[in-house]
Amino acid sequence: MSHSLVTMSYIVATILFILSLSGLSNQETSRRGNYYGMIGMAIAILATALSGSVTAYGLLVAAIAIGATIGAKAALKVEMTQMPELVAIMHSLVGMAAVLVGYANFLDESIQLNGAEKTIHEMEIYIGVLIGAVTFSGSVIAFGKLSEKISGKPLLLPARHWLNLALLLLVIALGYWYMQQAATGGGMVPLLLMTLLALAFGVHMVMAIGGADMPVVVSMLNSYSGWAAAATGFMLNNDLLIVTGALVGSSGAILSYIMCKAMNRNFISVIAGGFGTVSGASAAVVEGEVQPIDAEETAALLLAAKNIMIIPGYGMAVAQAQHTVYEITKLLRDKGKKVGFGIHPVAGRMPGHMNVLLAEAKVPYDIVFEMDEINEDFPEVDVSIVIGANDIVNPSALDDPNSPIAGMPVLECWKSETTIVMKRSMASGYAGVGNPLFVMENTRMLFGDANAMLQAVLKALRG
Ligand code: TAP
Repeated sequence: MSHSLVTMSYIVATILFILSLSGLSNQETSRRGNYYGMIGMAIAILATALSGSVTAYGLLVAAIAIGATIGAKAALKVEMTQMPELVAIMHSLVGMAAVLVGYANFLDESIQLNGAEKTIHEMEIYIGVLIGAVTFSGSVIAFGKLSEKISGKPLLLPARHWLNLALLLLVIALGYWYMQQAATGGGMVPLLLMTLLALAFGVHMVMAIGGADMPVVVSMLNSYSGWAAAATGFMLNNDLLIVTGALVGSSGAILSYIMCKAMNRNFISVIAGGFGTVSGASAAVVEGEVQPIDAEETAALLLAAKNIMIIPGYGMAVAQAQHTVYEITKLLRDKGKKVGFGIHPVAGRMPGHMNVLLAEAKVPYDIVFEMDEINEDFPEVDVSIVIGANDIVNPSALDDPNSPIAGMPVLECWKSETTIVMKRSMASGYAGVGNPLFVMENTRMLFGDANAMLQAVLKALRG
């Protein structure tokens, strides 16, 4: 394929990636956004494979076959609730690729550069390996935390900020040493030492972040993986990889910012770690009487209500209850009731988790609202139904300054006339905090698996 044709293909792929991102920003266009991304990626791979820079086709085909088989198997096997773990481990692969490309470039004797060009190339290698190694080890730890293989509690080493500062200064000093050595064809020792430090930094950074801040960490690592890909693009002299990496890097950074805003957190203090710990802070102690309710009573309350708000959370994803939720919504709307959905920005385990599930169940988009759009409307709501949500409806976030989630905006469903909470037990949610909502006077607890309970409610509504 001629150079100009490759460049043209790269431009088309870039445009498709931008269209994909803009499509993904809205539920109604997200499916189209996905298709743009897939077509863009197919064009990018094809153009790169057919460009002059690829010669070993046998190796390329074998690598793609192995990678595609593992990827397809993982994607088919993974449950919707395990998606964030899959995303985290995928980020680690981007980080590892940047490290490997960096070392391959460093060892490649066929690259003959001089003067400023050589200096820039050496710097690209050093920075690429640095970002890649931090992304790799940080993502592996994030995977461990999200899959609960590692405790979600933050590991707070004494003087950890000093430790981070010392690591940063060491990385800069090693960089200086590396540049000196690289000028005369050496530099392996400082590069290796820096890689080890970067790996340790990635582990330490994510280990210090508490469970409640994991949403920010996932999107932050997403951003890092983009910058790692952009660094790889610089090393390989591939414009498309630079642009794509920058798109992922900046959109991940914007998402991290949105997440921080949604949780009323400062980005720097998230990175500094520690939020979500209960040491020094008292997790809300829940004292009071629980008022259980059954499916028939729930149905009766719903039939008597005019204005109903449904608040889905992680438990709805676990129970795969979205289709039953849709059936109930349809039935209630057919009876002339106003039904809306209140979505917290960090409900579930990944950005947009609830929106994806509700869209899959064909819940109309125009009755699905962001938290900010409906939080003030709860006093007019007759019945709020909380389906497998916990942290996102915890009033202690607002009124207990000692709570580990203090300051996080929550859906204020307790202001509605009656709140029905569906969950299996009194267990706490992701942040490990007790929830006073469960013992409030106007709260009724419908204990059981969300899907089983909703099926029973649906039967009672039809009956
Ligand atoms: P959680 O606070 O985790 O609460 C979910 C509740 O669902 C649990 O208390 C659990 O109680 C219940 N549950 C689990 N399986 C169930 C089932 N089969 N049927 C009925 N209930 C079930 O979820 P949330 O309110 O959605 O809040 C999200 C939390 O995850 C936040 O702390 C957030 O910071 C964190 N987080 C979010 C993200 C993103 S980006 N969204 C990423 C990582 C972490 P029982 O065990 O008693 O049933």
